[in-house]
Amino acid sequence: MLRAEFFETIRQKLDKIDKTTLQSLMSDIFEDFDIMRTALNSMTEGILVTDNDRKVYFANKMAIKNLHIKTASISNEPLENVVGDKNVINTIEQALQNEEKLTELELRTENDEYISLSVHPLVKKSAIIGSIIISQDITLDKENEKKLQRAENLAAVSTISAGIAHEIKNPLSAISIHVQLLQDQVKACKCENSDDMKYCLNVVNDEITRLSDIVNNFLFAVRPITPTLMPVKFNDFLDKFVRFITPEVKEKNILLVKSYSDLPEVLLDEKIFKQAVLNLTENSIAAVKNADNPTIELEAYTRDDYVIFNVIDNGIGIPDDYKSKIFNPYFTTKSNGTGLGLAILYKIIKEHNGEVTFTSQPGQTVFTISLPITFRQSNLLGE
Ligand SMILES: Nc1ncnc2c1ncn2[C@@H]1O[C@H](COP(=O)(O)OP(=O)(O)O)[C@@H](O)[C@H]1O
Ligand SMILES: [Mg+2]
Repeated sequence: MLRAEFFETIRQKLDKIDKTTLQSLMSDIFEDFDIMRTALNSMTEGILVTDNDRKVYFANKMAIKNLHIKTASISNEPLENVVGDKNVINTIEQALQNEEKLTELELRTENDEYISLSVHPLVKKSAIIGSIIISQDITLDKENEKKLQRAENLAAVSTISAGIAHEIKNPLSAISIHVQLLQDQVKACKCENSDDMKYCLNVVNDEITRLSDIVNNFLFAVRPITPTLMPVKFNDFLDKFVRFITPEVKEKNILLVKSYSDLPEVLLDEKIFKQAVLNLTENSIAAVKNADNPTIELEAYTRDDYVIFNVIDNGIGIPDDYKSKIFNPYFTTKSNGTGLGLAILYKIIKEHNGEVTFTSQPGQTVFTISLPITFRQSNLLGE
């Protein structure tokens, strides 16, 4: 400001200044101008200044970007020739015509971006000599706002649906018990069509199981899970899991290969973690359905401070287009799928402080879970 006053004084005494002093003063003025221009171009807001005839006097870098200014030379050009976006120019023109002062008006551009626009009079010595147009790109803020809104809506819907799902469970178990009672009575009854009745009741029972699986999966996916983590030798966990899954893979003529030996302890909630591994093996079982020599391999080893666990199958593989979607809730390629298996798996692994990744091509899919090894105090002390 002091410099501005100084330059004003010089201006008044211009005719009395010699050439050398004038040159030095000019150089000072250019330097000042350069600093001002750099400062204006470094601003995150766009600044555009026009005169009273709406001819552009100056626009900084951000204004050129925000207002989609197209011409290379803008100085002295009419505003409407300079601003590329129709929505923006219409709004500015309207404000200028009505001599309205705009303050942070949110506007959608033709390119689906959002800017906040302010139009103020440019005042010099109590007279309006033009307008100053301030713009700010608020697209990111708007997107974040939308995302937050969506997340809030989703959370509300999830809470309501979790409540409904929970309410479905009670009548479902009552129906299940009564179907079993009916099955017992049909078994004991010697009536003619008891075979038909048995068949119908079996269908009802299967559908109850399906419905109950859907509800349980859904609740697993939407409710927060609170695992109780205990140190478990990972090979002991895998042995138990292999015993559990063997009847199903045998029945489906799938070869189950165990590729692990002694492994360290990791922190597991065995019941919850079993659900995660089951979700992976169920996917593998479905994937190898039409494979030659259908095989599922459970491989585990240690690397650095982690246990690495791979579920490998020689099934159809995951097409490239689907690879970014498979962990999304409800993404499924199966007619009877829920699309919740991998979403639940992801949630469970995160709760175990682990990571899950995969690679897939036709004929080989590998899902990899890494879990941090538990180091007991005694190990750390070298006992
Ligand atoms: N091992 C695998 N081989 C091939 N595709 C797989 C495999 N695992 C998952 N997928 C794909 O990921 C999708 C989502 O899996 P998931 O979340 O478990 O839901 P669902 O099994 O109910 O379809 C599956 O429908 C399938 O297309
Ligand atoms: Mg699945």
